[in-house]
Amino acid sequence: MSSDPIGNGTPPEDSVTIVNNASGRQVTFPVLQGTCGPKVIDVRKLYGATDMFTYDPGFTATGSCESRITFIDGEAGILLHRGYAIEELAAHSDFMEVCYLLLYGELPTIEEKDRFTHSITHHTMVHEQLHKFIDGFRRDAHPMAIMCGVVGALSAFYHDSTDIGDPYQRMVASYRMIAKMPTIAAWAFKYSLGQPFMYPRNNLNYAENFLHMMFATPAEDYEVSPVIAKALDRILILHADHEQNASTSTVRLAGSSGANPFACIAAGIASLWGPAHGGANEAVLNMLNEIGSPNRIGEFIDKAKDADHPFRLMGFGHRVYKNFDPRARLMRESCYEVLRELGIEHEPLLELALELERIALEDSYFVDRRLYPNVDFYSGIIFKAIGIPVSMFTVLFAVARTVGWVAQWNEMVEDPNQKIGRPRQLYTGYAQRGFVPLAERG
Ligand code: SDX
Repeated sequence: MSSDPIGNGTPPEDSVTIVNNASGRQVTFPVLQGTCGPKVIDVRKLYGATDMFTYDPGFTATGSCESRITFIDGEAGILLHRGYAIEELAAHSDFMEVCYLLLYGELPTIEEKDRFTHSITHHTMVHEQLHKFIDGFRRDAHPMAIMCGVVGALSAFYHDSTDIGDPYQRMVASYRMIAKMPTIAAWAFKYSLGQPFMYPRNNLNYAENFLHMMFATPAEDYEVSPVIAKALDRILILHADHEQNASTSTVRLAGSSGANPFACIAAGIASLWGPAHGGANEAVLNMLNEIGSPNRIGEFIDKAKDADHPFRLMGFGHRVYKNFDPRARLMRESCYEVLRELGIEHEPLLELALELERIALEDSYFVDRRLYPNVDFYSGIIFKAIGIPVSMFTVLFAVARTVGWVAQWNEMVEDPNQKIGRPRQLYTGYAQRGFVPLAERG
């Protein structure tokens, strides 16, 4: 589809015309329509035709790329991975299948799934030298700090899969990251406890393996609960990918310079850590613990509504969803299932979260701004119920999101339209001025 500004003559229907009211000059740009979702105005030639940039801090109305992986309809609360609804994948699929779907675009056959799962399983061990690397951290290091450091260093251990021009090396690097993230995550947790690292077991599935490495010790056998493993597998599916969110955009931007895949994923982990993004699940638990009881909810709701107060209701709101985040609904369902299966009759944090949600959704401030619970609102309650410590919540998000990051990174590398990402700006600093020697400054 041509992206050239259209000059004279009657502009075609699939175009928009911008009129510069100062000069009266008109320029027409093509409008592109995807499979579904909003059309886009192709402004690639805007600067050449108008000497002007677009201005969109936070990219609230900017499409950064073309993608076929995930579609979100924020108005309707719809999330599709390669065309399949998240509700169907959560109900009928498993995380290995969803990984294959995100990477290759189709659900695997039995044989494809077995081969993929076998490959991932046999990449779960990490280079033994990483033991010493992790030993360099303080025992009280936040596990996300360890994840950023260790994943960024993987290119030093696996330099044979860093040539992004080689599809085979890209695949090896992608499999290595998906496979090794749970091992590194569990080792970060064990390191904080001062417990010995547990090695992956090839007879366990992805979720079981992670739980085993997190909670087993060499001193005795550890039986992974199938209920908890299934719940964790579903949570991994719900966090796998989410279009061009902040961390995925970070991975794409880092990758656009040709940086090696491990460095790009480390950049994504760093971005995910922020409390406005993946760090929100940890922040929700801290917020619920601070609220403590239903009679203090009003106090926190008032703080959240106060424009002059930095407090936000963690786990609420979303740049895209102006309806319920479908993952939040599924996460709430999982909450009930896990607590019931674990025989936890009374979970004060869940009751507090439900009351907080009820009060907020009846408050015009949240209703008018279409602020609903997002994926992070309930996830922490399940993590806590299955024994994951709060400091590991965002690490779990990073483990799950790694497949989304590598799928989007591969798509970016293979995109013929791909260029290095280099946004421009609205400059409001000083115009050029003369240098003043030190002796002459007032
Ligand atoms: C994730 O992008 C993704 O897809 C992310 C993610 C993924 O899977 O990758 O879905 C995962 O990051 C989920 C979001 C987790 N973060 C939180 O729960 C933190 C709390 N939420 C807010 O920080 C906020 O809602 C954001 C960051 C999520 C979205 O911010 P936006 O889109 O920039 O919205 P905004 O700040 O422009 O808010 C619009 C209005 C503002 O009020 P006004 O200026 O109009 O008066 O809504 C208010 C905001 O003050 N608002 C909130 C609020 N979120 C928005 N007010 C109180 N509490 C909140 N949580």
